[in-house]
This record gives sequence, C-alpha cells and structure tokens, in this order.
Amino acid sequence: MKVSEHGTIACPSGFVSRLMLRSDVPKVLEIEREAHFTPWGEKAFLDAIETGDVLPIVLVDKEVAGYGVLKVLWREAELLNLAIAKPWRRRGLGHFLVATLLQSALRYGAPQVFLEVRESNTGAQALYRQMGFEVVGSRKAYYACPEGKREDAWVMRWQEKRGRNAA
Ligand SMILES: CC(C)(COP(=O)(O)OP(=O)(O)OC[C@H]1O[C@@H](n2cnc3c(N)ncnc32)[C@H](O)[C@@H]1OP(=O)(O)O)[C@@H](O)C(=O)NCCC(=O)NCCS
Repeated sequence: MKVSEHGTIACPSGFVSRLMLRSDVPKVLEIEREAHFTPWGEKAFLDAIETGDVLPIVLVDKEVAGYGVLKVLWREAELLNLAIAKPWRRRGLGHFLVATLLQSALRYGAPQVFLEVRESNTGAQALYRQMGFEVVGSRKAYYACPEGKREDAWVMRWQEKRGRNAA
C-alpha cells in the first residue's frame, strides 16, 4: 500500500478515487449484479450512503470501475461489500480499495475489521490474505447458491498490529 506523507493512499495510475454518491448507484448496480449471486439492491446502497458507511469507489474515464462498503461499529468494522468490474480486475484496484477501507477503519477508531467470504471465492480470499486478514471462523450454509444449494462462509479478521501499517 502506498501511503503519502499526508496519509492518503495512491490510487493505481489511470484511476481516480472518491466517495460514492447517490448518482453513482445505477452504474454500481450493474457491477454488483455481475459480481455477486445475491447482489445488493438500490436501497441497500442508498441506505449505506445515508447512514454514513464508508463507500470508496474507483473511476476510469468517469465510469465506476469498483467500490467497497465498510460499516464502522464500536471499536470494530465490517467490510460488507467489495467488487471490481470484470474488465478492470487484476490491476490492483481491489488491493487499493481494501487498503483504503482499512485506513478508514483506523481513522474511525476501529483497529479490527471482519468480513465474510464464500468458501469457493479463492480469488477474494487471496486478496484478503495479502492484506493481512486471517480466517477466524466459518458460518455453515451462509450463502445461497444456484439450484437452491447453500455454501459456507469463512469469517476473516484483520487486526492492526503495533508498528505495522494497514497493509
Ligand atoms: C475479489 C475482487 C474484488 C478482486 O479485485 P481485483 O481488483 O481483481 O484485485 P487485485 O488486482 O487488487 O488483486 C490483488 C491480489 O489479490 C489476489 N487475487 C485477486 N483476484 C484473484 C483471483 N481471481 N485469483 C487469485 N488471486 C487473486 C492476487 O494475489 C492479486 O495480486 P496479483 O494480481 O499481483 O497476483 C474481484 O475479483 C471481484 O470483484 N470479484 C467479484 C466480487 C467478489 O468476489 N467480491 C468479494 C466478496 S467477499
């Protein structure tokens, strides 16, 4: 993670980062529907913006290329959603967004961050491990799958370590 002397994280070159606005939601929903089997709907994103959750997005040519959603609770935070549009994957945007979200968690006084990830989602798990998350539990049959099947979730946790940066 590249952090400037002012504490900001450099977005990968060619991309621009800012917080999600209500007007971004239609494009976000297109990515969301392609990224997840049980996608969030419009109301979930609008509620997250309204309630003050942290929703960084990355843009290329003014189009949304990816986003994340972090809910900060008392002394801990939950990474609720993360997706990168298919054409922009494997360019460091997921890494950038997770690093941004971890830095936000620290800024809001949350030294640990939890998330759930599908057992089969080895790509996302690799990203989270790279960022310092560890598996701390599982949830049986947590996710819906095609044909009415269910899939376990892994619960992963990131903790601030003294003397170590957010990633
Ligand atoms: C998971 C996801 C967010 C990763 O975004 P990304 O921008 O492609 O990730 P990055 O380019 O920052 O990858 C960083 C590292 O994570 C790991 N990684 C990311 N995607 C991977 C994949 N499909 N397979 C294996 N490793 C992967 C790699 O170590 C990668 O580093 P490398 O490219 O140098 O090898 C993206 O694939 C996505 O949106 N998937 C669908 C939605 C989803 O699964 N969200 C997470 C729900 S918990």
